[in-house]
Order: sequence, then C-alpha cells, then structure tokens
Amino acid sequence: MKLASIVLAAGKGTRMKSSLPKVLHQICGQPMIHFAVQAAQNSGAGKTTVVIGHGGEKVQQYLGAGVDYALQSEQLGTGHAVLSANQAVSNEFDYVLVTNGDMPLLTEETLRQLVVTQLSNTGPLTLMTMVSDDPMGFGRILRGCDDSVIAIVEEVQCTPEQLAIRELNVGAYCFKTKWLWQALQRLPLSPKGEYYLTDVVGIAVEDGFRVAAITMKDNREALGINTRVQLAEAEAFMRKRILEKLMLDGVTVIDPASTYVEETVKIGMDTILQPNTFLRGDTFIGSDCEIGPNTMITDCRVGNHCTILSVVMEKAIVEDGVDMGPFARLRKGAHLGPGVHLGNFGEVKDSYLGAGTKMGHFSYIGNATIGKDVNIGAGTITCNYDGEKKHPTVIGDRVFIGSDTMLVAPLNIGDDAKTGAGAVVTHDVPAGEVVVGVPAKPIRMKNK
Ligand code: UD1
Ligand code: CA
Repeated sequence: MKLASIVLAAGKGTRMKSSLPKVLHQICGQPMIHFAVQAAQNSGAGKTTVVIGHGGEKVQQYLGAGVDYALQSEQLGTGHAVLSANQAVSNEFDYVLVTNGDMPLLTEETLRQLVVTQLSNTGPLTLMTMVSDDPMGFGRILRGCDDSVIAIVEEVQCTPEQLAIRELNVGAYCFKTKWLWQALQRLPLSPKGEYYLTDVVGIAVEDGFRVAAITMKDNREALGINTRVQLAEAEAFMRKRILEKLMLDGVTVIDPASTYVEETVKIGMDTILQPNTFLRGDTFIGSDCEIGPNTMITDCRVGNHCTILSVVMEKAIVEDGVDMGPFARLRKGAHLGPGVHLGNFGEVKDSYLGAGTKMGHFSYIGNATIGKDVNIGAGTITCNYDGEKKHPTVIGDRVFIGSDTMLVAPLNIGDDAKTGAGAVVTHDVPAGEVVVGVPAKPIRMKNK
C-alpha cells in the first residue's frame, strides 16, 4: 500500500488579521505548519505535498526541500486546493491523507487510525469527526438512517436544525487516490463561490458508496486555528502535551502553567524545572539539574548536576556541575568547563572558562580563553573591543585576577600570575608575575 499526504496551507487566514500567512504563526516556538507536516510525514506517508498560495513563498522558504509543493494560485476553496495537488500525487499512491495546515495538534496516531480504517473500507473515503458542545465554525456531519455519513454541511449553510448537530467535521480525511481525483472534478460551486472538499461526501453517496467515519478520542487535537484566540488555546494545549511527556520521562516540573518548553528540547532524568523557565530551540539539558526560576535558555547544551538560577543564555555550552546565577548571562560561544561558578551579573561571550574557574560578581568576559581554577575578581572586564576590532585575551591556569581589573586585549596572562585590585593591564603578564597599578607594572617576580 502506498500512501501520500496533502496538507492544505494556501488559505489567507483572514481571521488572523495578520500580514504573516496563517500557517506560519507559531505554537511553542514553531510555525503551526511544522506540526501539521510532521504528523503527516510520521503517519507513514511516502510523500507530503503542501498546497501553498497566499504567502506561499514564505511557507516554502520555511519548510524547504523536505516536502513537495503544489501552487493554488487562487483560493477557491478546500476542494479546489486539493485538486491543485493532482499533478504532485499520482495514482501510483493508492491512498492519500488530506489535512488542514491550521490543525497543529492533530497527532500522527490519529492520522494512522484514519488510514487503518480506510484500508478496510470498501468505500472511497474515511473522515474524522468529533462530538462537541462547542461546534462554532465547524462543518456539521449528517448521518442517514443506517447511521452512515451522508453529507457535511458548512456552518454558513446550515438550517437551524443542522446547526444543533453536535457531530463535527474535523478536517482530516483518507481517500482512495484514483476516486478522489475524478470526484473533485465533479464538485459543485458553493453559494459562497468556493469548491468545498466536504462536498465529496455527497458525491460518494451519489455514487452508491458508504462513507466511513471515525470519532476523535480527544477533541483538543482537532482545534483548527482561525483566530489568535484559538492560537493561544493551541499553544496552551501543546505546551501541556510537551511538559507531560517530559514529566513521564522523569523531569520534575514544579508549575506547568508557568513553564515553557519547546518540542525540540531534550532534558535528562531528575532535572527540576522551576517556575518561569523558558527552554527553547536546539537545547539539551542533562540530568540532575535545577533550572530556574526565571531562566531563559535558547540553543544551549547543559551538562549534568548544574544549577542555573535566573539566567539568560543562548548558543552556549555549560559542562557538568556548573553553578550559575542569579542574574548571569551567557551569549553565543560561551563555554563553561566543569564545575565553573558564575555568580551574579556576570556576562560571558565567545569565551571558554576552564574547570573550576570562579567568576562571582559583576564581570564581562568576551573573546577570552581562560584556564583552570582561575579566580576572576569582582568587576573584572576584558576590554576586547577597540572600536573597530575584537581582540583575544588568554589567561593561564590558577591565575588570580584582582577585583576591578581591566584586561586590555590583546593580552596573554601566564599560569599562576596575579593582578592587583584596580589594575589596568595593557601588556602581557608572564607566568607567576604579579602586576598592579595603572597601567599595570610588575611588583615582584615569583620563582626567580
Ligand atoms: C474547514 C472545513 C470544515 C471543517 C473545518 C475544520 C471545508 C469547506 N470546510 O472549514 O468542514 O469543520 O475545516 O477545521 O473544507 N485552504 C486552502 N485553499 C483554499 C481554502 C482553504 O489551501 O482555497 C486551506 C487553509 O489554508 C486551511 C485549510 O484549507 O489550512 C482549511 O481552510 P479554512 O478556511 O480554515 O476552512 P474552515 O472554514 O475552517
Ligand atoms: Ca480552519
């Protein structure tokens, strides 16, 4: 059996009131189309075609080469949109899944269920329905006397009796490919001037087929996003889904309501997430860490046994046993070796701090390579920028940098050297030497 999938994403999304195409609005850090495409691909489809139109270039730019595209140049309805994928999905595919791109919560399991049901169905399609007391905006499912589905009526066209129907069209279907292409040619024009995909149900019934339907177990999966109110609802549900998975995998989340973790983030066992923690992008956190409260980590690697309190960090690496915060900041290229302590108001960028190095208070380290067990005194600054260029600072092992030292780069400071409080270091300091003053000069040579 060969399965293809089509994701509809050409609509304008008028109700979003936005210049951004609807499917690019984000849920937990990723455009909603990402989730729709992921579910389609993971459901077993050998090929996924995304129907683009309104804002198509942007959608294509985001999704890249991982999917195929079909262009619907005029948005003449969901039926017309599927028909635009005719060239892309040939009859070599026995079945085709069709989903709306604005339903990011629909899971691959649900789609697989749809396919499995269609495989044993003699009719040409199976659709997904849900029963809900809040039917707003959904097409209503009409069933015949033998309980089979005989039509889907869009809300705008419902009679008052039909409006009261509580079984709704989710917007996910599995079709026999060959049948679908010829049925779409026969779609009637709706009073709204569109070709509705939902009208293929009537066509199947006319052809004498029985239309199969399965009902959603969890209605929240079927949330279609038409407005920003629904966008926020989807965000909340997706967030909960991500956090529950983490909790079941051994991560403690003290307050799920104020913890924000993106789907891409991986976290080890026995790590505790305190409230108001944001973990985003390509982030990996080891086990036995305590993260937060009030912490934002984006695209970082964090080892095991780390404590990270009230910290903002991006594109940084933190090895095992690091203790950071409160109020520290790691910028891109920061790398803290094992057991580093970074206290309050420290900022590190494009720099490596060796194992056991301590930087307790109010310092800026940029473009520096720092050895092991170095003490960086309060208020130390690498003066790495001369107004035009960034310059490097290299500090050896066991160096003692006195409080308020200005390290004017480029600069090399050898192992076991010391700088006095308030020193302005403008020249290299050999190993073991002690420098003080402005500009800093040696006061005594060790080991000589
Ligand atoms: C659609 C269904 C409705 C169902 C609901 C579930 C139809 C006619 N109606 O209504 O029965 O209950 O979804 O959420 O199918 N699109 C295109 N090209 C177009 C029009 C739409 O690609 O010309 C895409 C949109 O980008 C969107 C999807 O199709 O991803 C659904 O379109 P939308 O306008 O949101 O349909 P609904 O009114 O929600
Ligand atoms: Ca919709």
